[in-house]
Order: sequence, then C-alpha cells, then structure tokens
Amino acid sequence: MKKSTVLATLLPLVAADSDAANPQIRVAFHGDDGMVVSWNTFDRVPRPSVFWGRSKEHLTNIASSAVSVTYPTSTTYNNHVLIQGLRPDTTYYYIPAQLNEDTCYEPFNFTTSRRVGDKTPFSVAVVADLGTMGSEGLSTSAGKGVSSNNILKPGEKNTIDSLISSMPGYEFLWHVGDIAYADYWLKEEIQGFLPNTTVEEGYKVYESILNDFYNEMMPVTASRAYMVGPGNHEANCDNGGTTDKTHNITYDLSICMPGQTNFTGFKNHFRMPSDVSRGTGNFWYSWNSGMAHFIQLDTETDLGHGFIGPDEIGGTEGEGASPVNSKMNAQVNWLEADLKAVDRKLTPWIIVGGHRPWYLSYQNVTGTICWSCKDVFEPLFLKYDVDLVLSGHAHIYERQAPIAEGKIDPKELNNPSSPWYITNGAAGHYDGLDTLQSPRQQFSRFSLDTNNATYGWSKLTFHNATHLTHEFVASNNNTVLDSATLYKDHKC
Ligand SMILES: *[C@@H]1O[C@H](CO)[C@@H](O)[C@H](O)[C@H]1NC(C)=O
Ligand SMILES: *[C@@H]1O[C@H](CO)[C@@H](O)[C@H](O)[C@H]1NC(C)=O
Ligand SMILES: *[C@@H]1O[C@H](CO)[C@@H](O)[C@H](O)[C@H]1NC(C)=O
Ligand SMILES: *[C@@H]1O[C@H](CO)[C@@H](O)[C@H](O)[C@H]1NC(C)=O
Ligand SMILES: *[C@@H]1O[C@H](CO)[C@@H](O)[C@H](O)[C@H]1NC(C)=O
Ligand SMILES: *[C@@H]1O[C@H](CO)[C@@H](O)[C@H](O)[C@H]1NC(C)=O
Ligand SMILES: *[C@@H]1O[C@H](CO)[C@@H](O)[C@H](O)[C@H]1NC(C)=O
Ligand SMILES: *[C@@H]1O[C@H](CO)[C@@H](O)[C@H](O)[C@H]1NC(C)=O
Repeated sequence: MKKSTVLATLLPLVAADSDAANPQIRVAFHGDDGMVVSWNTFDRVPRPSVFWGRSKEHLTNIASSAVSVTYPTSTTYNNHVLIQGLRPDTTYYYIPAQLNEDTCYEPFNFTTSRRVGDKTPFSVAVVADLGTMGSEGLSTSAGKGVSSNNILKPGEKNTIDSLISSMPGYEFLWHVGDIAYADYWLKEEIQGFLPNTTVEEGYKVYESILNDFYNEMMPVTASRAYMVGPGNHEANCDNGGTTDKTHNITYDLSICMPGQTNFTGFKNHFRMPSDVSRGTGNFWYSWNSGMAHFIQLDTETDLGHGFIGPDEIGGTEGEGASPVNSKMNAQVNWLEADLKAVDRKLTPWIIVGGHRPWYLSYQNVTGTICWSCKDVFEPLFLKYDVDLVLSGHAHIYERQAPIAEGKIDPKELNNPSSPWYITNGAAGHYDGLDTLQSPRQQFSRFSLDTNNATYGWSKLTFHNATHLTHEFVASNNNTVLDSATLYKDHKC
C-alpha cells in the first residue's frame, strides 16, 4: 500500500531515525468525537504526529501534539496525540508519522465510540489482573512453589490470544487494574523463573515486562479503545515486601528506583479521558458509549475520609503511593457529581469498574476485601442506582447477587434495586490463580478458582435499555462458561 509520503514531507520536526520497533500502539476514547492515539519510541519525538483519514489510501489529515514523555529507568518515550472532530461510531484509518516511514507498518484502524444515547446493542470486553504472557510472565512453566494449576497447559491459549481472536465480538476493552505485572520481576527471580536477574539489575526487567506486555496487546489496543484504571500492581517496582525465604531477606520499597514508584509508568503510558469527565488522570474518570455510562474508580488511593491510602486499605499491596489529587475527598466528590449528572434517558445503564472488590467469597483479609472502598463508594452506588460493579484483584471469577449493605437483593437479577457485583481477576499472569473460600458466601452465584484452572475474561452485552448480559469467556477455547442476564426496568 502506498503510504502518505507527501504528507511526511510536511513534518520536518519528526525524527527520521526514530526506532519504532517497540511501538505499543494503543487508542482510547475521548468523548464520542475524539480518540487519543498513543505509542512508544526509543527517542523523544519533538512533535508526535498521526496521519489519519476515512480511507486507508487517503490519510489526508494530521493531528499533532507536544507530548512525548518518559521517566527515570524507562527505555522509551510515550507519545500521545488527540484526534478531534471525528464522527461517532465511525471507522478511521491512522498511522503514527514515525511508523509511516517504516515499511513494516500498514495503516491501523479504530472505531470511535457510539454516540451518547444510541440504543443499538453492543458488547464490551472487560479484564482485570492481566499480565505479560510468555518468557517473562504466564507460560507453561513457572518457578519454585507454583501450582501446576496456575500455569498454562501445553498448547493452551491465553487471554491475550483469546481477546485477539474475539475482536469482532466487542467494541472496546476495559482493563480494571493490574496491567502487565512488571512488579513481579522480583518474585519471578526469587522463585528461579528469571534465574539471571539480580536485584541491582531488576529495574531493567521491570521495564522489559512492561514493554513486552504492551506489545503483546497491540493487536487489540491499536484498533479497539483500551480503557484502563489503576490496580495495586501499577503502584511501584515490588508488590510491597517480597520475601526470599532461601536467603532470609524481605525486600521493601527502598529497592525501587526513582521512576518505579507512585504509579509513574501508568501515568506516563496512558491518557484516559479525565479532562472531558472532570476526573483525575488515569485514576478516576467516566465515559459514555451508546446506552451506557462507564465509570472507572481508583481503589488504591484517595478513598475519601481525608486520603485513606493503601495503608488503610490494608496489607502492603500498593504501598508507597501518595494521593493523586491534593483535594480532600476529591474522588468521592467527583463520583457523586458524575453520577448526579447522568441522564438516564440517554444512558440508562451505569457500570462501575474499580480494582478491589468488597463482596467476595474470600477470607476476610483487609487488602483483598476493600472495606474502605465499600465505605465510600457503596452509599453512592445505592443512592444513584448503579446497575453493575466490576472488580478484580483476587485471581478468581465470582459472579455475585445484587447486594445492598451486605444484604442480598430479594429480586436477584429481576429488576433489583441494588447493584449487581461481579469479580473477575482470572485473566492470567505469572502464577495467576487464587483459591476462594469454601463454602462460598451466600451471595455467590457462580465461581471458578484455582481448582478449575481456567483463565478467562468478561463480556458485557447491552441488548437494550432493560437487558444486560454478562458472560465469562474461557480464554482456552472462547467458550462461555457462565452467562447471566440482568433485567432493569429503566424508566424514562
Ligand atoms: C482494522 O484492523 C484490524 C486489525 O488489523 C483488521 O483485522 C480489520 O480488518 C481492519 N478493519 C478494517 C475495516 O479495515
Ligand atoms: C544465564 O546466564 C548464563 C551465562 O551467561 C547463560 O549461559 C544462561 O543461558 C542464562 N540463563 C538464562 C535462563 O537466561
Ligand atoms: C532471618 O533474619 C532475621 C533478621 O533479619 C533473624 O531474626 C532470623 O533469625 C533469621 N532467620 C533465620 C532462619 O535465619
Ligand atoms: C506521587 O504523585 C503525586 C502526583 O500524582 C505527587 O503529588 C506525589 O508527591 C508523588 N509522591 C511521591 C512519593 O513521589
Ligand atoms: C471483616 O474484618 C473486618 C476487620 O478487618 C471487620 O470489621 C468486619 O466486620 C469483618 N467482616 C466480616 C463479614 O467478617
Ligand atoms: C470448579 O472446580 C470445583 C472444585 O474442583 C468443582 O466442584 C466445580 O464443579 C468446578 N466448576 C466448573 C464450572 O467446572
Ligand atoms: C431487550 O432485549 C432482551 C434480550 O435480547 C429481549 O428479550 C427483550 O425483548 C428486549 N426488550 C425490548 C423492549 O426490546
Ligand atoms: C473450554 O475450556 C474450558 C476451560 O478450559 C473447559 O472447561 C471446557 O470444557 C472447554 N469447552 C469445550 C467445548 O472444549
């Protein structure tokens, strides 16, 4: 295909020798008339630019920015360009200018969000706790002490494979925290999975895992909006205190290099639409697509009551992160304002995603069960009639009943007045499955854990204003292992 060679000459500021072998291309919605295109380069790009157009042969438009950012220890620059003035629900072709000069790349394509209020049925893919696949993450082998249930069987397809092969079936991908698991490098090293890594050189492995993951995801993220939120594994270089039992050493966060704390990689890598939803960075924001309003929350910091942070959330996970917004109760106040502004005639559905759950058949451990999250979020979910709450964090799948303040809604899925809860942290990463408590909690309706040795992702289908189906898709064979439909009598 003939590339936009004429346009390339209009861009003298583009570094001609930018090495684009590691592009990690991802796109994100920005309203229903905009899209952010992000990609990585080894060198700083003075003026990141994207050629775009309605046809593959005529990428006659250019969008540019001055945003080419990096951080200490990173091996790449994150380039972000917003394309505005697009039509909703429309496919566009594009290519970052730096890649246009590389003959390996053909134009990519994305489709903008459905217009707010469009009642056409559509589906969305949702994952949480999805890490790097292959030699630095989940594969057919692991280090010492890892259960054979928690790795892949020979020939088993992983969740990234499944998301790629299922792409025609969903319009965007939502990743509700725990992205790549770069902070597992130390655990993988201690368990002998990455035998040649030293603690001193570990920061390089951290960056390598991130780069691997984002490239593995590119077949999806270059053409489906990739909406993300923070999880504890984005916080810093080590998951808060890894113990090497052989050498009797417990590492703390002091081993983290500058640049590998405080969600730094996550902040640099993405540009979520918080500017158009009055949110905060990639931490809390919302967007509309067709008949649904989606809200991404931050369960890791800024939980109200004056910055309840990870220490109050409990355990050491996510440790060392500061509030990301310096205003007291910023997130909770934002959430209420956002919920209050939803026009249920246009978007009858309100779907919330936040990394940590609180209703779960799991040992009552503060940290896994986020009581602080429940305290601040649940009253607002009830007040504003949130339909569905999605989480991950525990590496299991559990579909719960609709619940209010611990009580199961007697109407179950037949027009409940309480939010429906689903936890799916079974997407997979190095050693990635956990055990649920037995017997399960009374609110549990279907569950899978390490005993089932099944990785999978969630698919939401909005049929119309009253019916919404959630499915658990087994990554191995794209089979639906669990399906449930919520009926809500959404009245205008
Ligand atoms: C968009 O890109 C995807 C992935 O490369 C490709 O499978 C699909 O055919 C493209 N769609 C169009 C309409 O060109
Ligand atoms: C570890 O390093 C040694 C010596 O450089 C090399 O022979 C070996 O292949 C390396 N092992 C792995 C798993 O990379
Ligand atoms: C491990 O180290 C701690 C102090 O760092 C020490 O108190 C303890 O005795 C050591 N345990 C063993 C088994 O060596
Ligand atoms: C973490 O980031 C926030 C801004 O996002 C900043 O205010 C805070 O000082 C940072 N904390 C540390 C320890 O770097
Ligand atoms: C769980 O533990 C917390 C304290 O960590 C306690 O306040 C709460 O009542 C417990 N909840 C249940 C359901 O056991
Ligand atoms: C999951 O594993 C448990 C324990 O082995 C078993 O009882 C249950 O039937 C399995 N569930 C599915 C859906 O296969
Ligand atoms: C909404 O979708 C559901 C599931 O497909 C269907 O059963 C129902 O009849 C639809 N309702 C309306 C009003 O179209
Ligand atoms: C698909 O894979 C799942 C989990 O690996 C398994 O339980 C199920 O039986 C498989 N289904 C088919 C039709 O092969």
